[in-house]
Amino acid sequence: MRLKDKVAIVTGAASGMGAATARLFAQEGAKVVLADLLVSEGATLVEEIGAAGGEARFQKLDVTSEAEWDALVSDTIAAYGKVDILINNAGVSGSHPDILNTNTWDEQMNINAKGVFLGMRAVIPTMQKSGGGSIVNTSSISGFVGQKFVHMGYNAAKGAVRLATKAAAVQFARENIRVNSVHPGIMPAMRTSKMTADPEVRAKMIRAVPAGREGKVEEVANANLFLASDESSYITGIEVPVDGGFLAQ
Ligand SMILES: NC(=O)c1ccc[n+]([C@@H]2O[C@H](COP(=O)([O-])OP(=O)(O)OC[C@H]3O[C@@H](n4cnc5c(N)ncnc54)[C@H](O)[C@@H]3O)[C@@H](O)[C@H]2O)c1
Repeated sequence: MRLKDKVAIVTGAASGMGAATARLFAQEGAKVVLADLLVSEGATLVEEIGAAGGEARFQKLDVTSEAEWDALVSDTIAAYGKVDILINNAGVSGSHPDILNTNTWDEQMNINAKGVFLGMRAVIPTMQKSGGGSIVNTSSISGFVGQKFVHMGYNAAKGAVRLATKAAAVQFARENIRVNSVHPGIMPAMRTSKMTADPEVRAKMIRAVPAGREGKVEEVANANLFLASDESSYITGIEVPVDGGFLAQ
């Protein structure tokens, strides 16, 4: 088991890549705290993990709330004694028909960028006390390049995640806290996607992927697993695209 006795918090764990990551981490022996806005989906997944012999609990979290982050960390410590891993994965889509919409810019910065910072801010003190940890921040290929159908706020927020990851990696490396970013490419559409869920747009997007297909949520979960585990003990501050070669072009 690759995460035996580790305690992991996964945000956005009720859906998509977060759910796949929570399932995989539990299979690999971690005690997993699933954090999300979606209470019933999160509770159902906790039951599923428990039925499969894993250890998990759900806690409602809005990643934009400092107070809810603090409560999540203190409740996790009360339940499981420590936090070894944070997968900062929650996010909302930036595909928007009005790409100059101001509210979308604010929403993107608040949830996709500040939410990731608040997660790091909440877990780092306890990781410092316990002797280390691993943080994986979910960015995107959109953190590297602009895209026609994506609000520039999404690109900017995912770019912020990429650089905040490097800053934290450098700042906390001496305390054995590793911080890396994962950059999924064209994946199954997010719950909040409208444009990228459209079959025509999707077909166009997939044509731009060297591998010729969209990614699977489990393929991102596997990258999260490697970076969360001690197998990557000398790896910090890197970007891991999981994108079928998109960024290699
Ligand atoms: N699907 C893609 O094509 C794609 C590609 C690259 C990167 N990503 C990124 O991967 C991550 C996961 O995306 P997904 O495809 O699994 O999407 P998803 O919509 O299936 O899941 C996102 C989860 O985040 C949760 N969430 C949203 N806002 C939240 C908040 N304020 N507080 C707590 N939870 C919140 C949602 O409830 C949902 O469960 C996101 O950060 C996304 O930007 C997605």
